[in-house]
Amino acid sequence: MVKQNDSWGSRTGLILAMAGNAVGLGNFLRFPVQAVQNGGGTFIIPYLVCFVVMGIPLLFTEWSIGRFGGKRGNHSTPYILDSMSKSVWWKYIGVFGIFTNIAVVAYYTYIESWTFLYVIHTVIGTFTQMSQAEVSSFFVQYVNLNGSNFGIPYLPVLVYILVLGINIYILSTGLGGIEKVAKIGMPLLILFGAVLAYKGWTMGAENASAAFPEANAWDGINFLWTPQFNSLLDPKVWLAAAGQIFFTLSVGMGSIQCYASYLKENEDIALNSLTSGFTNEFVEIVLGSAIVIPIAAGFLGLDWVIENAGFGMAFQTMPYLFMQWGEVFGAIAGICWFGLLFFAGITSSLAMGTPWMGFMQDEFGWGKAKGAVSFGILAFVMGLPTILFYQYGYFDEYDYWAGTVSLVVFALLEMILFTWVFGMDKGWSELNRGADIRIPEVFKWIMKYITPLLLLLVLTSALITPQGNDWVGAVSGLFDGVGWKLDSGSLISKLTHDDLKLLQLNDPQNGEIYEKKIFFSTLARVQLLALFLFIVSLVWYSGIKRKSISHE
Ligand code: PHE
Repeated sequence: MVKQNDSWGSRTGLILAMAGNAVGLGNFLRFPVQAVQNGGGTFIIPYLVCFVVMGIPLLFTEWSIGRFGGKRGNHSTPYILDSMSKSVWWKYIGVFGIFTNIAVVAYYTYIESWTFLYVIHTVIGTFTQMSQAEVSSFFVQYVNLNGSNFGIPYLPVLVYILVLGINIYILSTGLGGIEKVAKIGMPLLILFGAVLAYKGWTMGAENASAAFPEANAWDGINFLWTPQFNSLLDPKVWLAAAGQIFFTLSVGMGSIQCYASYLKENEDIALNSLTSGFTNEFVEIVLGSAIVIPIAAGFLGLDWVIENAGFGMAFQTMPYLFMQWGEVFGAIAGICWFGLLFFAGITSSLAMGTPWMGFMQDEFGWGKAKGAVSFGILAFVMGLPTILFYQYGYFDEYDYWAGTVSLVVFALLEMILFTWVFGMDKGWSELNRGADIRIPEVFKWIMKYITPLLLLLVLTSALITPQGNDWVGAVSGLFDGVGWKLDSGSLISKLTHDDLKLLQLNDPQNGEIYEKKIFFSTLARVQLLALFLFIVSLVWYSGIKRKSISHE
């Protein structure tokens, strides 16, 4: 085994890299949409609670696990977890921490490639003369691989390869390169975000039009920030809040553990992890909520936003709205927006490359170039079908299983390992070694009992979400002998494709499309499973290698 001596160049570099890992597309694209879809002010309270009782404990855990493993020469979760228990099985649980990164990076880089291309389109003025419908269909045609962008067929694939190539190049320069990108990208991102957020906060009703006379940006802000208590007991909102916390903090993935494995033995965890976590929350809550929603509400009104809130808004609507501010400021806004998305994206996708590279280096002695290129190939093989079959839900399938479910599963397991198997007392002293601040003792208790319990709760309620999310009705239905009717959004219904079958039933005219969706979503699962098993086999093989070396 090659012993690595890599470590972060400076504390600022470490924090920026960790914050860059967390701050991503999730902060600007996912958060506002989740907030709107879950009732605005209703979402914020569960979201903040989840940050404190799940997010922070998981950050503490992952940083501690990572530094612990790194000291023993392990830089990816299979052997980081292995070093914490005697059982031979944990290294296979650790497969999640490589698998999820590769599966997520595959589609994540695809979005990153849109942001890259949209910066170029903004600069050359592609959107200046387009109507709102044209801007919107421009995007749809792009992802459906129709329209000939610049007359180049399969342009989306080419741009994807280019952006993946940029990632590979930076990864091949190692931690130093990642640190450099974070040091440039993070401040720029905050600057760009501040320009747009300023606009979002100050535009008020000045852009109301004849079509939307009531439009006011403040409605968007108020909608998000006026706490509502009515659906505080709705598990659906809690699930969405927990899911967002996971995704945005990058916990349950394996990339934080990998970054933390390059800490020095007594380097602070307590303050550093909180600093990067809070930086992420600042960007998400302050900047992430001040751009898409208020600006769209300022032009089109809050009702439009609530009806149309979705992931596409950022690409289908924003370029058109920016142009209403005139050609010059419109272009500046567009560059700020897509530029900030690009920087947010790349500092996160780089993080997703490191667990694989760390693993191949530790176990097979692969250098940085080989590690980065092989990572790129894997990402490409996984990513290509998400581009080609985007319209059949390939992309969504990855996002659901890898980008949502696996995070929670892995987080629960590693939390159990850290607090119960490794032991909370040992864990607590690991976490506090070299700490620059004192963590309140209550976290010891939260980490041991509350967090794992909540994770279990989140997982089970996702698994068996009852019809219409009506938990009270479902439980009383059990007593009335009606049985438990699953919601089409429950994990089980997704697994059995009951969700798609229901849609098909309600829309028989488009039956064929659903057939295709079912086919491609099955294919996507097979591909995800193949990736998982491939990594399992590598871990198994590395185990044999390790044994034979120790017997020599
Ligand atoms: N946290 C990132 C975001 O908000 C996504 C991410 C997940 C990045 C996992 C790295 C690892 O977009």
